[in-house]
Amino acid sequence: SIVSKQYRTAYHFQPPKNWINDPNGPMYYKGIYHLFYQYNPNGSLWGDIIWGHSVSTDLINWIRLEPALDRTTPSDNNGCWSGSATILAPDSPVILYTGSDSSNRQVQNIAFPVNLTDPYLTKWTKPAYNPLIEPVGDLNSSEFRDPTTGWVGKDNLWRIAIGAELQGKGAAILYKSKDFVHWVRAKDPLHSSSASGMWECPDFYPAVAEGDGSETKYVLKMSLTETGMDYYMLGKYEEDRDAFVPDNVVDDYRLWARIDFGKFYASKSFFDPQKHRRVLYGWSSESDSASDDVAKGWAGIHTIPRTIWLDNSGKQLLQWPIEEVESLRKDEVHLQDIDLNTGAVFEVKELKEASQADVEAEFELYNLERAEPLDPNWLLDPQKLCEEQSASAPGGVGPFGLLLLASDDLVEHTAVYFKVYRSQNSYMVLMCSDQRRSSSRPGLYKPAYGGFLDVDLQKERKISLRTLIDHSVIESFGGGGRGCITARVYPEALCTGSTYLHAFNNGSTTVKISTLKAWKMRRAKINENISIRS
Ligand code: FRU
Repeated sequence: SIVSKQYRTAYHFQPPKNWINDPNGPMYYKGIYHLFYQYNPNGSLWGDIIWGHSVSTDLINWIRLEPALDRTTPSDNNGCWSGSATILAPDSPVILYTGSDSSNRQVQNIAFPVNLTDPYLTKWTKPAYNPLIEPVGDLNSSEFRDPTTGWVGKDNLWRIAIGAELQGKGAAILYKSKDFVHWVRAKDPLHSSSASGMWECPDFYPAVAEGDGSETKYVLKMSLTETGMDYYMLGKYEEDRDAFVPDNVVDDYRLWARIDFGKFYASKSFFDPQKHRRVLYGWSSESDSASDDVAKGWAGIHTIPRTIWLDNSGKQLLQWPIEEVESLRKDEVHLQDIDLNTGAVFEVKELKEASQADVEAEFELYNLERAEPLDPNWLLDPQKLCEEQSASAPGGVGPFGLLLLASDDLVEHTAVYFKVYRSQNSYMVLMCSDQRRSSSRPGLYKPAYGGFLDVDLQKERKISLRTLIDHSVIESFGGGGRGCITARVYPEALCTGSTYLHAFNNGSTTVKISTLKAWKMRRAKINENISIRS
C-alpha cells in the first residue's frame, strides 16, 4: 500500500522486511565495519530472534549478508539474543551472545568466524561446549543477558559485564576469564543500583574529551525495561576493586543522564580505530500499532550512527551524527539573519524535499529578561513539561524552533523546540519534540519527549538545532549534541501530498535565526539484497 512505502526510511539502517531490534556486536575488522542486529526472519513482530548481519565501509551504505547466528543449538533454540563482539589478540574476532535455551533460560554463548581470511566474516560457528555461562545461584534465569565487549585488566584477565536483575537491583555482573571461554563470576557486580530493575544491554567504555586536557571518564550505560529508555553514568573504574564508581550516586532513575530523550533503546557503541572515535548505534522501535507493522511488513530501524565523546566539563556525553552522513547531502539551502517575532511561522520554501532532509539551525537570543522561572520539580519530568507548555502556548523566551514534516495546512506537524527558563543565577534550556500533532491517523503513539540541556547562555546567547528527517523518523540534536531526541512519526501528508519545514517562535521575545542550512538527503544503499555469498 501507499502508506507502507512512505513510512519506510531512505537512509536509516533497516533490513528489506520484518522486525528488528537491538544493534549487536558492532566492530571494525580489517577495513570493514560489521553490524549485527536482532532480527525476526518470519515476520514484523518480535519473535524467533536471530542475528542479522551487514557490512559497510562508511557506516551509511550497507551490504546485507546471510544471518550470522541462527537458532540451531539447545543453548539458543529459543532465540539468539543480544551480545557483543570482541577482537581478541592478535587478530581474532569472537561474538558473545545470550541464548534463550531449550528451557527458556538465558545463557551466554560464544561463536567464532569460520574463515578468518574472509573479510566479511560471513559464516559463524558455535562450539559444542556452549553455553559458557549459566544462570546459577542467585541469578534469575529470565533476567540475565546481553554480554558487553570484553576488556583486559592489569592482571591480563579478560572481563565482561552481563545485564541482570540481582536481588531486585539493576546490575552489571562482572565475569573474568583467561581464555574468553572459561568465565568466573567476580564477587561483586561492576555496579548495581536499587533505583531501578533489570539492566538490559549494558555498555562500558572510557570516554575521552576533545582537545588537550584529554580528560577520560568511564561510562556505564544501561537500558531500563521499566521506561524503555537508555541511561548512563559517568565515573571512575577502580581496577584493583574491579568496580565502576559513579561521580554522582543518584537514587532516582528519573534524574539519571539520558542518551536520548525519545524513542531510542538498547544502544551499543564500539571504538572505531580507523577514525579514532567511539560510534554509537541505537534501536528506534515503531510508534504505530502492531497491525500497522504487519501491514507494512517491517518494524524497527537503527538510528544514524553517532560519535559519542566526553564534554570538556567532564559532566556529560556529547553526541553528533557521524560525518559520513553528510555525503548524502545535496541542494543546499542557506538562510541568514531572520528575525522570528512573537507568533512568527516562517516557511523554508527553498527546501524541496522536507521528508528526507538534514537541517542545521542556529538561534540567537537577543534578550533573556523574559525567561520564566524554573520550578525544580520540573527536572523530574521534563516530558510532562513539554506536554503542558506546548509549542503553541505563549511563553517568555521560547518556545521557538522548527515545525517538521508539516502538512500544507500545518494541521499535521512535529514541533522540535526550545524554551529558556531562569534558575537562580543561570538559565536552563528545555528541549522538546512534540509528536501530538504529527499525524491525523488514529492508533499511533504520539507523546511529547523532552529534557533539559546544559548550555551556557551567559557565555553565548545561542542554541543550535540539528535535525535528520527521514520519512517516519526525526532525530534531533540540541545545543551541539548536549541533548538528543529521536521520534517516530507517521504523517498522513507523507502519503497524500508533500511535507514542509517551518521555523516558529511563540515566545514574547524576538529570536533570530542567525543561520539555517538545509539539505535534501540522497537515498543510501541499505541492505538492498544479498550481494555476497560465501
Ligand atoms: C533489549 C532486549 C535484550 C534482549 C533482546 C531480545 O531490547 O530485550 O535484553 O537480549 O532485546 O531480542
